[in-house]
Amino acid sequence: MKSDINVSELEKESLPVHVAMIMDGNGRWAKKRLMNRVKGHEQGSRTVREIVSACRELGIGFLTLYAFSTENWGRPKAEVKALMILLKRFLVSERDELNNKGIRLNILGQKEKLPADVREEAERTMDLTRNHTEMVLNLALSYGSREEITRAAQRLAHKVRSGELRPEEITDETLSAHLYTGGMPDPDLIIRTSGEFRLSNFMMWQAAYAELFITRTLWPDFSKEEFHKILIDFQQRDRRFGKVKCNTSNDGSPL
Ligand code: IPE
Ligand code: IPE
Ligand code: MG
Repeated sequence: MKSDINVSELEKESLPVHVAMIMDGNGRWAKKRLMNRVKGHEQGSRTVREIVSACRELGIGFLTLYAFSTENWGRPKAEVKALMILLKRFLVSERDELNNKGIRLNILGQKEKLPADVREEAERTMDLTRNHTEMVLNLALSYGSREEITRAAQRLAHKVRSGELRPEEITDETLSAHLYTGGMPDPDLIIRTSGEFRLSNFMMWQAAYAELFITRTLWPDFSKEEFHKILIDFQQRDRRFGKVKCNTSNDGSPL
């Protein structure tokens, strides 16, 4: 599909390093068309392909996609099953594409809770792409921030008990390092589709200074073109990180 926006409008040096997306609205997309929710998920996986390729083209280093939350296990059995089938299909069909484009696949979340066949396909794709450095694609699967943080706390507690770590060594950095995203930069930009103004248990620790962008577009209708527009908006934001940035001298007094 041809982009209606000139990618050169984007300043390459101020692109986000890590973009995270809450892919929401598949069910409503299907409902509007009097279709089964699963059709919405199917259509949504096409958007995933388009957005992964857009990030790769732009040279964005990390893309995290929230695909299935710890709470999503509570959906009707048939929907969960259909989502797992789609996920497995994606892990197989995109394997060569990810490999050819130098993209490393990574899973954030409770891998052990995934059905064995899905886990095996995920591991196969992760193994094949493990040495790639062009881009990291994180799929957040059976992911929840609260589970991630409590798991990190437990891992740290074990290290303290075994004498590997002193309690004072539990810092912002060590806690970050024990999250599923350990070793990765925090997201600079979090996009949520379908108009909901909430995080739904997504990256609550890592989102501390992320720029948030909510679009009313439903995930299956989200496109490369809209993504480019959001990136232009991102580039115009003033990220202060709690500090005073413009027109001040070294001692902080206004010039
Ligand atoms: C997002 O779409 C996909 C998942 C959460 C798995 P939804 O299925 O939540 O779609 P809506 O919010 O019901 O429209
Ligand atoms: C968030 O969407 C989870 C994913 C996108 C995977 P939900 O549809 O599950 O979130 P709520 O229920 O609207 O908060
Ligand atoms: Mg939803």
